[in-house]
Amino acid sequence: MLSISQLKASYGAITAVRGIDIEVPRGTLVALLGANGAGKSTTLRAVAGIHRPITGSIRLDGAEISRLKLHQVVRRGLAFVPEGRMVVAPLSVEENLTLSSYAGRGDQAALLARVYALFPRLAERRKQTAGLMSGGEQQMLAIGRALMTAPAMLVLDEPSMGLAPAIVDVVFDAIAALHRQGQSILLVEQNAAIALGVCDFAYVMKRGEIVASGKPETLRDSAEIAEAYLG
Ligand SMILES: Nc1ncnc2c1ncn2[C@@H]1O[C@H](COP(=O)(O)OP(=O)(O)OP(=O)(O)O)[C@@H](O)[C@H]1O
Ligand SMILES: [Mg+2]
Repeated sequence: MLSISQLKASYGAITAVRGIDIEVPRGTLVALLGANGAGKSTTLRAVAGIHRPITGSIRLDGAEISRLKLHQVVRRGLAFVPEGRMVVAPLSVEENLTLSSYAGRGDQAALLARVYALFPRLAERRKQTAGLMSGGEQQMLAIGRALMTAPAMLVLDEPSMGLAPAIVDVVFDAIAALHRQGQSILLVEQNAAIALGVCDFAYVMKRGEIVASGKPETLRDSAEIAEAYLG
């Protein structure tokens, strides 16, 4: 369970996140939607321990993590896949995956098998140099690397960004499969339609605030979504 309460985050004089509340119960897939510049990435970077300082509270399974750094947050069981899919370009797919796995947190061979089952494309390309793969393959690898830490909470920033529609479908089928396996997920997306197709609950952010929230069937076609994106 991830609980964000009254979170505020600034860049100097610019307040990007203005006291928001978000809950991701265990085993659920929660989406955070919003247009360009709404504050979605800043929120995730705060959760992952990258954006500091912040005010408010961020609790992971009850423990306060808002003062921890990225590596400490990862050790507590939260894995973050940033915008723009970070992979270690000169290393192979398999080297990228094994590099991310933590001694003591799960069995490396089992974790690797889970990633390859989820993304057969990565299994086929296990010896391939990561930096030479397509954007879609690199996104799969970035998610795979996060899964190698056996996270209790998986946090994804815009996994669809810059990908062709057919590849977006492959990536979102994998996200839906992870959700069915019981993985807790906080997903940021600009593409509301695709996120609402897989999530249990969604929040809509605009100019640093949550302007709407609810189940996907109530949010779809809602005025708040249209307004948050167009207004
Ligand atoms: N490093 C930075 N320095 C100053 N301002 C920033 C910085 N990063 C983001 N901002 C500002 O903070 C606000 C929120 O940005 P953020 O990147 O969190 O939005 P976002 O919802 O992720 O947008 P996008 O959909 O484009 O990724 C914006 O007004 C942005 O210009
Ligand atoms: Mg962003």
